[in-house]
Amino acid sequence: MAGSTVRSSSANLLPHAYSRPLPLFSPRVWLTRNYATVLVNNAGFPGGRDLTEDAPAAKIRAVFGELLNVHITSVAVMTYAFLPLLRRAPAPRVINVTSGLGSMTRVLTPGLRMGRFPPYGASKVGMNGLTAHMQVVETERAAAEAAEEGKESRGARVRFFISNPGVLKTAFTHFHPMGRAPQLGAKSIVELIGDDEGKYDDHMQWEWDLEGDQMRKVPW
Ligand SMILES: NC(=O)c1ccc[n+]([C@@H]2O[C@H](COP(=O)([O-])OP(=O)(O)OC[C@H]3O[C@@H](n4cnc5c(N)ncnc54)[C@H](OP(=O)(O)O)[C@@H]3O)[C@@H](O)[C@H]2O)c1
Repeated sequence: MAGSTVRSSSANLLPHAYSRPLPLFSPRVWLTRNYATVLVNNAGFPGGRDLTEDAPAAKIRAVFGELLNVHITSVAVMTYAFLPLLRRAPAPRVINVTSGLGSMTRVLTPGLRMGRFPPYGASKVGMNGLTAHMQVVETERAAAEAAEEGKESRGARVRFFISNPGVLKTAFTHFHPMGRAPQLGAKSIVELIGDDEGKYDDHMQWEWDLEGDQMRKVPW
């Protein structure tokens, strides 16, 4: 993938392709199935928690570089690679897995208990921004194509979503006892995958509200 530290596990829909470099598994997908319905960019890690202001510049650069690589650049690489396949599906979707730290509104809300990790948080803000930008490009692409054919645009072919799993009991948090079960974290992803009627707005952040037992939007 995009850098030496990044493996190809974001391609969750291609378990057999795990750890293979992108150019190796792309032709295989084209041969076995000439479309892809959903791409979930889930890979992530909680780096940079111990980074302090007196760290050497090279270390700061390396920590930010790795987080931005995995959470932004690699999401872009994977998404660009799959867009041609996604566009061939009837209702294609890209779902990028963010974090509560990617919501600037929540980060800036006084008294809201959440981690303070600038490198990780900034990388998830960036992932959210990338998702919004890619959605806009896709929507304008569809409009331009429709105009060329003298038709009215029916909106973007590929719909982009952001899913916030919440704090989970996974390896990521060292199986924190207060974390939700991973199945609950995946609930908003499952909802978005099943949203064939367009119930949920694309280019938005979504999470599963435990109290309300329903989906809700996460503020930017
Ligand atoms: N857990 C939480 O509390 C929490 C909260 C908010 C957001 N999130 C987000 O949710 C997503 C999933 O996290 P999780 O809780 O399921 O964590 P997890 O159990 O640690 O799983 C993380 C996954 O990402 C993969 N991964 C990590 N670094 C990678 C790299 N450099 N290249 C390729 N794959 C890599 C891992 O692959 P390997 O198994 O091969 O290492 C693993 O499949 C992440 O994007 C995370 O930021 C998690």
